[in-house]
Amino acid sequence: MFHTVICDLLGIRYPILQGAMQGAGGPRLVGAMSEAGGLGILPTFGGTEEALRRDIETARGLTSKPVAVNITPMGRAFTESRAQICIDMEIPIVTTGRADPGQAAVAMLKAAGIIVLSVIPSVEHALRMQDEGVDGVIASGNEAGGHVGKVATLPLVPQVVDALDIPVLAAGGIGDARGFVAMLALGAVGVQLGTRLIATDEADVNEWYLGRILDMSATDTVVSAALTGATVRCIATPEIIAFEEARLRGADAGELQALRQVARENYGHSDKIDRSKRRQGTAGQVAGMITDIQPAAKIVEDMINGAAALCGELHGIAGRGAMAAE
Ligand SMILES: Cc1cc2nc3c(=O)[nH]c(=O)nc-3n(C[C@H](O)[C@H](O)[C@H](O)COP(=O)(O)O)c2cc1C
Repeated sequence: MFHTVICDLLGIRYPILQGAMQGAGGPRLVGAMSEAGGLGILPTFGGTEEALRRDIETARGLTSKPVAVNITPMGRAFTESRAQICIDMEIPIVTTGRADPGQAAVAMLKAAGIIVLSVIPSVEHALRMQDEGVDGVIASGNEAGGHVGKVATLPLVPQVVDALDIPVLAAGGIGDARGFVAMLALGAVGVQLGTRLIATDEADVNEWYLGRILDMSATDTVVSAALTGATVRCIATPEIIAFEEARLRGADAGELQALRQVARENYGHSDKIDRSKRRQGTAGQVAGMITDIQPAAKIVEDMINGAAALCGELHGIAGRGAMAAE
């Protein structure tokens, strides 16, 4: 069911990817998502080389299926050192996030036979990645958690599908079978989930973060550059709101830097910080529809079974429409 070209390309059962989630999705979630028939993807956003090697080993210990790695480009040396680890450890699939990893890194991965998928926020970025030789793109809309561009998923995906010759997956705002079917209808050959997977048994988050995801509504996120310097959709905490209000009233660089520091103090994103103290987090608008904690495998199973039921219903609606027109 729902076997698309991306399943064959990646060697997975279902076209459902777990988007890399630095600070929320460690090897336990990655192993569980791959084992469930989707694809688990480890993050490397600022983490050390040792942490990446260790996480790959741990995730692989939890599944016999493919495990992927995400590289968020943070300068050429960082990108290429993480790419080299993927090559050395025979990672079959690499995704890239936030920015263009550069032609050299893509060529390095491709020369080693690795499948490369790039997360892109616009048609222009997608075309550039296609030119650089990636195997597919993940079109990620502005409603997504994490780094975002300006275009929402609904208009972004069909425009990228129309512009590219390579497979397109969709990310941003997908929380259940309805979103999955909608993305297939837009021409995507698979989906990538982020925020929905924070509320799983296997996610690596503290009680504060989990509680916010379960309680918050769709209006409780904001796009801000306070946390990483680039535009990130995150939970609208008092510290982020204070930064954004100051920015909008034209506060000077010194005041903004001070507010940024306050917000980052308890971000807990990197390996070096005590995550139990974390009081900031990234989340997408889909958080408004997440009210329960599930095993990751159940989310995959419900998405596939729910999508099958939904397609049956849509078929029925289309059939009734055809009969009425006769
Ligand atoms: C907590 C969190 C951390 C993330 N970290 C990364 C990351 O390290 N690299 C990356 O490419 N994307 C990252 N993302 C984006 C996700 O991989 C995914 O594309 C996005 O969450 C999909 O949108 P959704 O949250 O609406 O499902 C992150 C998202 C979240 C929510």
